[in-house]
Amino acid sequence: MVASVKPLMTAEVLQKRVQELGQHLSQVYEGQHPVVLGLLKGVVPFYADLVRAMSIDIEMQFMQVSSYGSGMSSSGKLNIRQDLTASLEHRPVLLVDDIMDTGLTLFEIKEYVLKRGAREVKICTLLDKPSRRQFPLHPDFIGFEIPDHFVVGYGLDYQERFRNLPYIGIYTP
Ligand code: IMP
Ligand code: MG
Repeated sequence: MVASVKPLMTAEVLQKRVQELGQHLSQVYEGQHPVVLGLLKGVVPFYADLVRAMSIDIEMQFMQVSSYGSGMSSSGKLNIRQDLTASLEHRPVLLVDDIMDTGLTLFEIKEYVLKRGAREVKICTLLDKPSRRQFPLHPDFIGFEIPDHFVVGYGLDYQERFRNLPYIGIYTP
């Protein structure tokens, strides 16, 4: 255990839920060959586990955007650092991220993906902090709803630290 991180969800709890989500998404997207679009870098551990829990044919794509700066609150603008490489014309897209907080990031990216011609966009986040929402958006699929804590681990960082923890914990400065 890391000193400044108070455990919230064990690796076992995460794995069990991600397996369930993967099975559910396999039913929802059966026969559709969706683009599963992950947002770097926070999504990496969740994404890797989720796609391996899916038993259907998918296309893996990634984007890196920034909306957060390096602190604990949103900066309020979106900057595309790395774009996706596939055509989205007429395709179903599943946007995957670690957490929906204010909703800014996913709100902006959803618009962007629709502009690129996607037929449909749905959102899957491991965590949802609905109490912090500032944009009219809800994930279509979530792993867990959490209260307003700043969490790290399993991809989530504080100033680029803690992403590789196999569990999720509350960061206490
Ligand atoms: P939003 O645009 O405000 O919804 O923020 C989304 C992004 O903020 C996430 O992809 C994370 O990178 C970051 N973020 C929001 N809440 C947390 C947290 O509790 N821990 C770590 N990163 C967070
Ligand atoms: Mg982040």
